[in-house]
Amino acid sequence: TVIGVLASGRGSNMQAIVDAIEAGRLDAKVGVVISDNPEANVLKRMAGSDIPAVCIDRRQFVSRQDFEAAVAEELNVRHVELVVLAGFMRILSPYFIDRFAGKIMNIHPSLLPAFPGENAQQQALNYGAKVSGCTVHFVDEGMDTGPIILQEAVPVQEDDTVETLSDRILHAEHILYPRAIALYCEKRLIVEGRRVHIIEKSE
Ligand code: GRF
Repeated sequence: TVIGVLASGRGSNMQAIVDAIEAGRLDAKVGVVISDNPEANVLKRMAGSDIPAVCIDRRQFVSRQDFEAAVAEELNVRHVELVVLAGFMRILSPYFIDRFAGKIMNIHPSLLPAFPGENAQQQALNYGAKVSGCTVHFVDEGMDTGPIILQEAVPVQEDDTVETLSDRILHAEHILYPRAIALYCEKRLIVEGRRVHIIEKSE
């Protein structure tokens, strides 16, 4: 399965996916990494790698639709079969989501439906939650609302700051995202309404 990673920032999840492929835990190929942000660390990480990394700067386009058309075109040229959002900080329009219907995944640093949107870790602390975590889900037209694929819980500790909690969640993200992508690549995910059924691995 050829995957296309969309990332705006640090790129640690992108790295975890590449590492899982190299370690043989994920049978996929990263066809392209696209960032909307020319300064993104994710692009620096790609330097020296043989994976194509492309910057498609939103500011170079008059409309969101034109920007998304350029992203879609790049994904098509690279024969991408699954779009993986990894810290991609833009909301995709229904136009883009329809074009890749059922083929876009995202990771979010909370146990959805709790704490959607930005600063999920801070939201969990502010709320006084004792448990948080991360969620991999298919992307639909809402904000962090699509069908849930996998979740992992992590404790919120007494002395946590947003940094310590974010680190603990990020560690779980790096394990969970490659696992979710592997399930997709092995065709073991069946979406039925809101529910994603995971087919047992046949021996
Ligand atoms: C992660 O916490 C992810 O859950 C959220 O954005 C962050 C991206 O981090 N969507 P990185 O760029 O993968 O390091």
